[in-house]
Amino acid sequence: MKLIGIILVFILIINNIKSEDALIDDDISDYGSSIYSGSFSEKECKSASFITIPLGTAGGLDESNLSSFLITKKGSNLFIALDAGTIWKGISKFLTYRFNSQYLNITYPNWAILPEQKTAWFIKNHILGYFIGHPHLDHVAGLIDVSPEDYLPNNAFDIQPPISSGLLGLLLRLRITDAPTQSAILQKKTIVGLQSTLIAIQNHLFNNLIWPNLPGYGRYDYYNLQADREYYLSDLIFLNESQKEIIKNDFPHNIKLKSYELCHDSIMSTAFLFQDTQTNQQIVFFSDTGVPSSNTFGCDWKQKIYNVWRDVNITTVQAIFIECSFPNSTPDNLLYGHLRPKDIMALLKDLVARENPQNIKNPLKGVKLIIQHIKPAVGPTPQNLPQKRIIYKELCQSNTLGLNIIIPDQGEPICI
Ligand SMILES: *[C@@H]1O[C@H](CO)[C@@H](O)[C@H](O)[C@H]1NC(C)=O
Ligand SMILES: *[C@@H]1O[C@H](CO)[C@@H](O)[C@H](O)[C@H]1NC(C)=O
Ligand SMILES: *[C@@H]1O[C@H](CO)[C@@H](O)[C@H](O)[C@H]1NC(C)=O
Ligand SMILES: *[C@@H]1O[C@H](CO)[C@@H](O)[C@H](O)[C@H]1NC(C)=O
Ligand SMILES: [Zn+2]
Ligand SMILES: [Zn+2]
Repeated sequence: MKLIGIILVFILIINNIKSEDALIDDDISDYGSSIYSGSFSEKECKSASFITIPLGTAGGLDESNLSSFLITKKGSNLFIALDAGTIWKGISKFLTYRFNSQYLNITYPNWAILPEQKTAWFIKNHILGYFIGHPHLDHVAGLIDVSPEDYLPNNAFDIQPPISSGLLGLLLRLRITDAPTQSAILQKKTIVGLQSTLIAIQNHLFNNLIWPNLPGYGRYDYYNLQADREYYLSDLIFLNESQKEIIKNDFPHNIKLKSYELCHDSIMSTAFLFQDTQTNQQIVFFSDTGVPSSNTFGCDWKQKIYNVWRDVNITTVQAIFIECSFPNSTPDNLLYGHLRPKDIMALLKDLVARENPQNIKNPLKGVKLIIQHIKPAVGPTPQNLPQKRIIYKELCQSNTLGLNIIIPDQGEPICI
């Protein structure tokens, strides 16, 4: 009996090891092959430059899983948010993820024990600012919801243990010791976007009716981007030249940014192109865009995307975040400014055809195509498959460019 028990335990242990391996194997994908979900494997992360944490990835209905991604450079734990549909739920899920401590080395105050204390601390100290692509609710609601706690207290430097990462780490590195400058950085995060986006947020959300006007009370700053103009992210906080010099190689201050107008049915949306000034590596993020359902707005949606392609360097681009709201079977007149797999793949083929003067072979092979904003199907679907499986299959079938297609899961980081 005893022996059988021991053998059983042994088998159980072996099985556990095996399934752990299998899990990790599933996570790993060789460049060129496609994977279904995130990829935060050792192998992937060793050679990666950036880390993204998907905070919400669906395109509607589920209010706890709406468009938002955090991005940082490997080695940093200061993030910027791209869109802000869901913040809280994505971070609280991420904090239960088994790899989360390894790469990011987040330090919490001694008192932060409960999940909600940790989630709030992460938001306060590790999100520097919000880049909003357009003002639809599913891209801003999370920012509004967390805004009452989205700042660090004045006594943050007295917290035990001493914390030298995130925003507090930035202040230490800059040797900013005067209280007014400290509180300006700790309590005034930046909301970045095109003017039309920021005006909508100011007039219709932070308007003292729908929500208190927190920017008016000094709790956020708006940073107005002009389309097609280049910015350095070090300009997003007020620093003098010698301070800028200190952090010029730190994320996100080592990044330059250009933004582009996109057509999104009846409003303007935005694409953000980020470029690392040290390595030239690029990341492109598209907020909602696509085929309009009526042409009353008169926006040439394809031409707007070609304007982005003109500045994409096909030899250094690492990842393209793009929406894919509907499957291929959806007719044009029901797209309402969104994309299908066939539209995305045609656009990427256009990129290679237009912006490859040296005729490099398979220039986008292995580039991560991060698919977001899938609208959950709630009516009948073929074989009762969830929408993301249908969309994944359709993307893979026309993936002649060898992109690394990823449909991320909320809270599961991806090394880029
Ligand atoms: C969030 O949405 C994505 C995209 O549709 C889906 O794959 C994922 O399962 C959702 N996650 C949760 C926790 O609902
Ligand atoms: C993690 O952070 C702590 C305190 O913030 C620091 O002392 C430690 O050296 C860091 N570890 C790594 C591996 O960076
Ligand atoms: C920049 O600001 C820092 C901190 O406020 C200050 O110590 C330093 O003298 C300033 N440098 C210049 C060149 O103004
Ligand atoms: C693309 O990046 C490479 C590598 O940094 C660089 O040599 C090349 O000049 C860039 N191409 C363009 C068009 O900027
Ligand atoms: Zn939208
Ligand atoms: Zn949307």
